Amino acid sequence: MIICANPKAQYLSYKEEIDSSIDKVLNGSQYILGEEVELFEESFANYIGVNSAIGVANGTDAIEISLKAMGIGNGDKVISVSHSAVATIAGIESTGASAIVVDLEPDFFTLDNELLESAYTNDVKAVVAVHIYGQSSDIYKIKEFCKSKGIYLIEDVAQAHGALNNNKRLGSIGDVGTFSCYPTKNLGAIGDGGIITTDDENLHKKMKMLREYGWTERVSQIKGRNSRLDELQASILNVKLRYLDRDNQKRKNIADIYDQLSFDDFITPAKRSDCDHVYHLYVCKTSKRDELMNYLNERDIFPGIHYPVPIHLQPAYKDNIAIGSDMHVTESIANNIISLPMYPELSLDDAEKVYNAIKNFFK
Ligand SMILES: Cc1ncc(COP(=O)(O)O)c(C=O)c1O
Repeated sequence: MIICANPKAQYLSYKEEIDSSIDKVLNGSQYILGEEVELFEESFANYIGVNSAIGVANGTDAIEISLKAMGIGNGDKVISVSHSAVATIAGIESTGASAIVVDLEPDFFTLDNELLESAYTNDVKAVVAVHIYGQSSDIYKIKEFCKSKGIYLIEDVAQAHGALNNNKRLGSIGDVGTFSCYPTKNLGAIGDGGIITTDDENLHKKMKMLREYGWTERVSQIKGRNSRLDELQASILNVKLRYLDRDNQKRKNIADIYDQLSFDDFITPAKRSDCDHVYHLYVCKTSKRDELMNYLNERDIFPGIHYPVPIHLQPAYKDNIAIGSDMHVTESIANNIISLPMYPELSLDDAEKVYNAIKNFFK
């Protein structure tokens, strides 16, 4: 059976090192915010190329805490996309702010920066740009827009740990970068985890307080909450961070095989020039999506769909989310996309099997 993602296989790849780092935490004296979290924050900040990083409980909290540190909440608006994990919008709305969603660039499936101006009002205080599937959004153009309006830019890098745009790691270009370390992510924990990167010292201080009750020295200076990354997850992430570039390279090798599939009715998002795609997901679009899915399932291949329903059409949001543009690109891809099996431990032989099955389907 060939599955879409396989975090257990990754645990088995690094089992010895992970087991020993877990053992060290279990037999240590600090289970929360100890030396493993500190080491992870420092190493991840260095890896991304920013001054600091803050470990939090998950990628949704990372968005919420970033926005709150920027002073964004009730009555404010934040522009983002509807083609993402629902977490992107949940993170925005849990601050009390409301989201405005805009459509995508048809070639790249990322936020269309040309739509920002018409969606903008004086209440808009930030843009959350999602680097979907492992590839950069048009982040420098979006940054230019944010700068012209004096608003914040958050990079949602949950799907693109290690990806580059013009030799800069994603998560080092906006005011903050928010990462999820959910087990299937390019840098995944064995449980929930998240991390926020920034060069801004004031935001850093505030985010650190917000993740732990608004404390400095155990006294709440501002209203915060509990969103700590724990020592066990940090110790696992410390092991996996050492192999992130190697694992991303394995994903790229699999993508090279899938890239040879060339059919009129089988289209992958275009690759952005001067960017390095880390293939959290390998997605393609075909009008025969459901037939292809069945065909692959019958051959023991189980792709995924990211995402089947745009957020603005989901029951929780459909009557109350602001739509900042026509949404035809977002709506048209939801019914046609399929995510092929993609994880570092997927063998190239299995990737070839997927490739051959798709080739046979289209011939
Ligand atoms: C684009 C995107 N943003 C945010 C998140 C939220 O991360 P988490 O599940 O860690 O809260 C995810 C993960 O599902 C994601 O894919």
